[in-house]
Amino acid sequence: MNLSVLGATGNVGSRLTAQALTAGHHITALVRNPGTLPAALPNTEGLSVVQVAVEDRAALLESLRGADVAVVSITGKMSERSFMQDRLPGILEACREAGVGRVLLVSVFGAGDTAAKASPLARLVYSTVLRGFLADKAAADLLLIDSGLPFTIAYPVNLKDAAALPTQLALPLERVAGVPGMPTLPLDNAAAALLGLAEDPDLTGRRVLITGETGVRTA
Ligand SMILES: NC(=O)c1ccc[n+]([C@@H]2O[C@H](COP(=O)([O-])OP(=O)(O)OC[C@H]3O[C@@H](n4cnc5c(N)ncnc54)[C@H](OP(=O)(O)O)[C@@H]3O)[C@@H](O)[C@H]2O)c1
Repeated sequence: MNLSVLGATGNVGSRLTAQALTAGHHITALVRNPGTLPAALPNTEGLSVVQVAVEDRAALLESLRGADVAVVSITGKMSERSFMQDRLPGILEACREAGVGRVLLVSVFGAGDTAAKASPLARLVYSTVLRGFLADKAAADLLLIDSGLPFTIAYPVNLKDAAALPTQLALPLERVAGVPGMPTLPLDNAAAALLGLAEDPDLTGRRVLITGETGVRTA
């Protein structure tokens, strides 16, 4: 599979890139600064690195051609209240014109209607400290849904740099009744779940929670 990754230098995107390379996929990493890619990536003959600004729609379009899945895993600072809303429309237009097969957007659990499935404590945090940040994520999710492009949206819980757990859970939101507490998941588990979403075309049009194997109440 040809995967194009925006945000390949980030905590999530770099791990996804590494795992996808190990799995034998071809990865095109679309980066602002190739120097910020992790030095040690496996199977680098499967890796193409393209230096491109996401704001440069023409260059982005060219670099997205041939992608089966475009993973959008970029994020701005917490204080940038319209980071995604400013950038996603251009990215989606480039995906459309390039004929990308599907857009996999990495959002965050707590954005938009997903907050209703969170615990009271988590909802308090989402509606205060993270309010503006999550509003931007939720607006971006809607932009993708309304774009008419084939999509999957991932909603990882809080992530941490820790040793990977044996498994993780990737569950379509309609099957999630509630997420107790404020779970955290190792970044490598989130990357594994995202790779699974990218590899599974049956998840087209689905919104998927990514969390730990235990605790989630199912609908
Ligand atoms: N980490 C978590 O706990 C967590 C939990 C749930 C969901 N998520 C979601 O996962 C996604 C990725 O998060 P992350 O933790 O990997 O973030 P991160 O480590 O901060 O990485 C951010 C990525 O976005 C890129 N980026 C920032 N500004 C950009 C711009 N103007 N143009 C192009 N690229 C730009 C960065 O590229 P440069 O290297 O060039 O700066 C980097 O690759 C986000 O949607 C986030 O909300 C994260």
